[in-house]
Amino acid sequence: MSDSPLTPMSVDHHVDIHRLRALINEFSSFGSTPAGGLNRTALSTDDFAVRDHLLSIAQRHGWEWGIDEIGNIFITRWGSDPQAAPVFIGSHLDSQPDGGRFDGSYGVIAGLLVLETLEMRGIVTRRPVTVVDWTNEEGAVFSPSMMGSAVYARRLASSAAKNAVNGDGLSVAEALASWRKLPAGAQPRAPHSYVELHIEQGPILESRGQVVAAVRGVQGISQFDLIFLGQAAHAGTTPVELRRDALVAASRVVIAADQAMREDTKLRVTVGNLSVRPGARNVVPAQASLHIDLRHPDRRAQRQWVDTLVERARKEAEQSGVTVDVHHVLDQAPLSFDGSIIEIIQRAIDHLGLSGTVLDSGAGHDAMQISSIAPTGMIFIPCVGGISHAEAEDITDEWAHAGAEVLFETVVELAR
Ligand code: HGY
Ligand code: MN
Ligand code: MN
Repeated sequence: MSDSPLTPMSVDHHVDIHRLRALINEFSSFGSTPAGGLNRTALSTDDFAVRDHLLSIAQRHGWEWGIDEIGNIFITRWGSDPQAAPVFIGSHLDSQPDGGRFDGSYGVIAGLLVLETLEMRGIVTRRPVTVVDWTNEEGAVFSPSMMGSAVYARRLASSAAKNAVNGDGLSVAEALASWRKLPAGAQPRAPHSYVELHIEQGPILESRGQVVAAVRGVQGISQFDLIFLGQAAHAGTTPVELRRDALVAASRVVIAADQAMREDTKLRVTVGNLSVRPGARNVVPAQASLHIDLRHPDRRAQRQWVDTLVERARKEAEQSGVTVDVHHVLDQAPLSFDGSIIEIIQRAIDHLGLSGTVLDSGAGHDAMQISSIAPTGMIFIPCVGGISHAEAEDITDEWAHAGAEVLFETVVELAR
């Protein structure tokens, strides 16, 4: 986190930037990479270690803690009204492989700092305030993304989530059981509202010189796998007309995805993972599996492009004499966040005298899932060069502080 001179805010600071920086450094030590990023994929030993660290902080403060059956962690500071539904804040502590130190972590850590600041200032909110660490937001090792929040919001069956396996065949259920017997501690109560603080993961705020934003909504996300099956054959003796090469068909779909984005500039299609079997240089590939992530702000276009790419996959398979299986993993429509929460966030930005704006999110977040069960909003801060899902991900003190201050004021307002 680069030290930058903090621009004076129009009111006294609520949260302590030095404590924020210390917490970020503390949490970044779990799964840190030599290049300054994080390799803390969901349900890895480093993820379990940072979870235990989070729980130790809760226990030290005497806050109530609970872990549900899919590993979502809930840390609650009680308010004056034991009947009041809690305000949820937080994000996710799992990272991408060789990912950044702030994607997700910043929201959980700032949430902890909000609780500590309320404590230190002796502020008694009416509503309880609960910090959440959602399990497996990234979906990098176990599909789908936003797994824990989807199970909590009842948009994904916990059995389906628990049966998801990683590349080594280990299931989510087995990985969780290796950490703790779940559920454990106090189980969460339905939230009054949810506010997630997150880095933008794109270049807009920084390019505009703005330090914080209320997020209007998130574009749609579809994730699906294409598994092409051909025939292994000898690389030296098999002429092209006798080949049933799974990789050739798959590669043509990758090119088609790239062309689609040039046709529709709002479309984002990524083939982030392509695995080939048997994977020897002198064997014609028998199997090629693609993991596709497709995003679009318009629901109709999102579904149309999924259908177009699946249709193209079937055509290329036929052309190459191979078969193709399609597994749909995630289908999340574009959504808008709750207007009243956006207003509260904007009022906090104005009250703090910060240069802010309203922005749509290109990245997916747990808030997408929680918005289906409670009024939800998000707060963004910039990240350096818009870089994210990479070890170079970085934020300035000024941005980190601005985001935490807006979160603090938003929580105090919602928890009244
Ligand atoms: O993929 C996403 O948009 C999120 O950062 N996991
Ligand atoms: Mn994230
Ligand atoms: Mn991410």
